[in-house]
Amino acid sequence: MKRTVVTAALPYANGELHLGHVKSTYLPADIFTRFMKFKGLPTVYVCASDEHGTPILFRSEKQGVKPEEYILKWRQSYFDDLSFVLIDFDKFYHTHSSEHIKITQEVYEKLKEKGYIKKLSVKQYWCPKENKPLPDRYVIGTCPFCEASEQYGDQCEKCGKVFTGGQLVNAICKTCGAKAEIRESEHVFFTLSNFSDKLEKFVENVDAPKDIKNFVLGWINDGLKDWDIERDISWGVPIPDSKGVFYVWFDAPIAYTSTLKKWCDEKGEKFEDWWDNIVHFIGKDIAYHHFLFWPAILMGVDWKLPSMIPVRGHLTLEQKKFSKSRQWYISIKQWKELGFSPEYLRFFMTYTTPQGMKDSDFSAREFQKVINEELVNNFGNLLQRTLKFSERLGSKIEDVETDEIFKKVQESVNKYEKFMDETKLSEALKIAVGLIHELNVYFQRNEPWKNLKIAPKVIRTVASSLVILNKLLYPILPLKSKKVAKLLNVDLVWEGKDALKVGHTLNKAEILFPKVDDDMMKKLEGLYKK
Ligand code: 2FM
Ligand code: ZN
Repeated sequence: MKRTVVTAALPYANGELHLGHVKSTYLPADIFTRFMKFKGLPTVYVCASDEHGTPILFRSEKQGVKPEEYILKWRQSYFDDLSFVLIDFDKFYHTHSSEHIKITQEVYEKLKEKGYIKKLSVKQYWCPKENKPLPDRYVIGTCPFCEASEQYGDQCEKCGKVFTGGQLVNAICKTCGAKAEIRESEHVFFTLSNFSDKLEKFVENVDAPKDIKNFVLGWINDGLKDWDIERDISWGVPIPDSKGVFYVWFDAPIAYTSTLKKWCDEKGEKFEDWWDNIVHFIGKDIAYHHFLFWPAILMGVDWKLPSMIPVRGHLTLEQKKFSKSRQWYISIKQWKELGFSPEYLRFFMTYTTPQGMKDSDFSAREFQKVINEELVNNFGNLLQRTLKFSERLGSKIEDVETDEIFKKVQESVNKYEKFMDETKLSEALKIAVGLIHELNVYFQRNEPWKNLKIAPKVIRTVASSLVILNKLLYPILPLKSKKVAKLLNVDLVWEGKDALKVGHTLNKAEILFPKVDDDMMKKLEGLYKK
């Protein structure tokens, strides 16, 4: 059986996780993994904290602590935040581990053996005041391609293009504001341009949203440049035969393999058996790295390429960009402190997030509306009225045929599965939600409370449907669905689509989905509207 490795882009150990991180990456990867495991398919979900790079060094220096110390805080904080949102990693590791450093250096040696590494003289920004090199985040200036101002030295956040040294216009030192000088430095390069044709084929064949593929193919068409993978700082993975360390984007994706390897070692599994069907969940801003840099590295060392790269857009807050400094922002910690359900968040995010580059929006009002309409009044209500009514009839399933609509529910499982396999999670969820709506209408139209004769048929039809639909909701609502299964008195397992057996007893109704009232909604809004 094919083994699947699911990964989520590594969080930089450099700032709080907010709702946007959850929706684009960690949550969809978690839902997909839960679905695969639920079906009994061998799957592992790995991730790690991304602990190298100049932003981390820059911040730690500013705070006057060693980077080793600085990253520890974030490593634990990420794990806690993501666990709260019920993100269930098989392994969450980190890039400052000895295992990761070793594998990164081995990958480099192999690339070198194969002739994919060369040394070149580069233009390096330099601060004349502090007399030190200014890599990436230490320098700001204007993008040479789209003229966006206040861009860092390695990539434009506006147009997504990556730069090589010296390309930034009007560069200044970010620490002291001095005009940056340009000096020569010798760096190791990875010959990305060698892989152009192969990458084009890869992008055409990999399972990923069309819009992002077209974007990436455009980059290939523009011509790929060899990639400067060295930085003149001391924080990072040392390059065996050069003075600097690897650029963080060289070592970070290698953590997909080093973390998987760590998991394999702990479980007594073989890495070679598991590096097979690879699925990388990412946000659209790191497409360049996952569609080009990383596959080229994998090609260079002859490892299997990813088979799927699900991409999602950004999350806006009331149609505006998240911003920590302007407090236009909701972190996972704040969500937790308010005592809000992580599953309501999971539901909302899945419901409103399409696959592909399109952004989606969060607002406290929309959150209240979606949860109350689709989860509380739709699902919760159907469950509640079915169990309450069944109690009036003695809580037992009677020997009556189910109605037509149950067949429709049974048949929906295949459609749901197809969407889930394609990681179209929002579409999959909407199949379940749509059927729950139909079942509410069915219940209402039959008026079993007026016509007790047909009541047993309505109960068998709706309760049996709820058993199936609850399975479809499991990956999104892992805890609530277990409680629902308990009320329906069934095991929560993927297999089985039959109607509830005659004589099956249903349990008493309980409120599992409390309403998001105005008070809660206001508290949530208060986090960013001050
Ligand atoms: O964009 C980011 O937040 C990066 N830390 C993602 C790294 S993913 C990878 F390839 F390792
Ligand atoms: Zn730009």
